[in-house]
Amino acid sequence: MILVTGGAGFIGTSFILDWLAKSDETIVNLDKLTYAGNLQNLAVLAEDPRHIFVQGDIGDAALLAQLLTKHQPRAIIHFAAESHVDKSIHGPGDFIQTNIVGSFQLLESVRAYWEQLEKPERNNFRFLHVSTDEVFGSLAKDEPAFTEQHSYEPNSPYSASKASSDHLVRAYHHTYGLPVLTTHCSNNYGPYQFPEKLIPLMIVNALAGKSLPIYGDGQQVRDWLYVDDHCRAICRVLEAGTPGETYNVGGWNEQPNIDIVHTICDLLGELHPAASLDYRALITYVADRAGHDRRYAVDAHKIERELGWRPVETFATGIRKTIQWYLDNQDWLNNVQSGAYREWIETNYHQRSV
Ligand code: NAD
Ligand code: TYD
Repeated sequence: MILVTGGAGFIGTSFILDWLAKSDETIVNLDKLTYAGNLQNLAVLAEDPRHIFVQGDIGDAALLAQLLTKHQPRAIIHFAAESHVDKSIHGPGDFIQTNIVGSFQLLESVRAYWEQLEKPERNNFRFLHVSTDEVFGSLAKDEPAFTEQHSYEPNSPYSASKASSDHLVRAYHHTYGLPVLTTHCSNNYGPYQFPEKLIPLMIVNALAGKSLPIYGDGQQVRDWLYVDDHCRAICRVLEAGTPGETYNVGGWNEQPNIDIVHTICDLLGELHPAASLDYRALITYVADRAGHDRRYAVDAHKIERELGWRPVETFATGIRKTIQWYLDNQDWLNNVQSGAYREWIETNYHQRSV
């Protein structure tokens, strides 16, 4: 079996649903259920013995030791993290605690477990660390995309905390020989993404007739990848990646934020026309994010060359499916927009002058 951390979040949910659609190998899902974790995402697996959910913290060494001894996983897929840049600007503490200290404690527990495994299991074991392209910093307009060799230049508390965990993962391979794999993925989008991130926030606000807040000039560029493609890449790296190596994962799909929002408005106009509403009229330019990275772009040639992975979804097909999913799952949306969510919207957007 495999142990997944953070499996009730956005990407972890897709990973588990995809995995169990293709395989009967059991997943132990360790998730703290922070505001971003949602067991409702995995409701279809409630009666499925192949999904064992455990609510807990990656930093809880006693719990980890117990889970590892009991279930004897052949691999760990480490998704659990605080993941939102704006939140890291308002309060970096949780990011340091989970992304750095939590990842360290997880590595320590896994090392103790791995060191007592016998030969074939010990060699075949994998610790796959799910990282981000944001650790490489920000690119100028005409700079080449990030390769795996790009220097680390994290600019936000979020990316700095992820960079720290990357370094720990690397050190556990170099020092102890733990068979680790690290992936650096670009921005994901798709079903179950919490509506704090750009794409779901724009969909939610547009459906409610609220303004669509564009930070700064809206010309910041991100490389968008459909979440299922990311999950396929993780499976491929787990299966065939070389321990100690890092793999970039990207969508070959760089777009400025304002273009993304225009596309969402136009598709909503087609899929959910509102009588007296032109969705584009809701676009509002607001104060920029502090330290806002201008451009991310991922060179994903290595994973294509060595492991044969390429995204299968185009942005046109992926964004249409995503918008349709949010239209079809308004109950999910209503449930996640709890009191804590409304407080966040107030904190992040109230003080941004138009
Ligand atoms: P998310 O915020 O949607 O989910 C994170 C999950 O981790 C939640 O279920 C949460 O409850 C859980 N969690 C948080 N702290 C925990 C702790 N201390 N112990 C156990 N569980 C804890 O995040 P996501 O978008 O699904 O991202 C997953 C991973 O992928 C993260 O490591 C992130 O850095 C990385 N990543 C995300 C993107 C993206 O665009 N979303 C891109 C590249 C890499
Ligand atoms: P986000 O989805 O938070 O991902 P990240 O910051 O990790 O790339 O933001 C994507 C881009 O969209 C980023 O340049 C910030 C911008 N953005 C807005 O313009 N308005 C918003 O309300 C949000 C949440 C993001």
